[in-house]
Amino acid sequence: MDKQQQLKIQAAKAALKYIVDDAYIGIGTGSTVNCFIDLLDDHKHRIKAAVSSSEASTKKLEQLGIEVVSLNDVDQLPVYIDGADEANENLELIKGGGGALTREKIIAAVADKFVCIADESKYVKTLGDFALPIEVLPMARSHVARELVKLGGDPVYRHGFVTDNGNVILDLYSMEITHPKTLETQINQITGVVTNGLFAHRSADHLILATDTGIQEF
Ligand code: A5P
Repeated sequence: MDKQQQLKIQAAKAALKYIVDDAYIGIGTGSTVNCFIDLLDDHKHRIKAAVSSSEASTKKLEQLGIEVVSLNDVDQLPVYIDGADEANENLELIKGGGGALTREKIIAAVADKFVCIADESKYVKTLGDFALPIEVLPMARSHVARELVKLGGDPVYRHGFVTDNGNVILDLYSMEITHPKTLETQINQITGVVTNGLFAHRSADHLILATDTGIQEF
């Protein structure tokens, strides 16, 4: 197992303490969350059920016998566990490398506490080295791309990828994101955008970062 995978498992382990007994738990998407789902197998008797941010996570949860319910049927969600593609010191994130950003943002909006788990490679001073994923209605793709160029970025269509919601993704390159909240709002104002992968208005509440020298919590 490579070092990064070991760190992902360490981050996932450190998040187990956030499980709330007899409550629903929100589950994100990605390789780090997959480590958490594997660990959740031993704790599944403690939770009511899960809500999931993607078809992939739902499948993995159900394979372990963990019930997945609709977010609409959940009145209270104490905790949401998810990874990130980048995180800064304000716990603002770029997410959506796996294309699940919209459902992730919806669950994060509902959850009382959003716990982000990551290995140290995700921690950055300034967001934007990782291309910012933007979910777009298919018929608006060219329009949105032109508007993103006006914002100073370089949008690239994620060929052959369709989101769980039937939409497409534009990955926005060449942006040094010094004002994440402002950019999040600006992009959401473009007609045809469903969501962008900046989690700045709803940032994480806790960041568990697995490093070579141990777990750091912010
Ligand atoms: C999924 O759409 C993303 O937001 C993931 O949470 C993010 O890409 C982190 O994934 P990894 O844990 O695989 O790096």
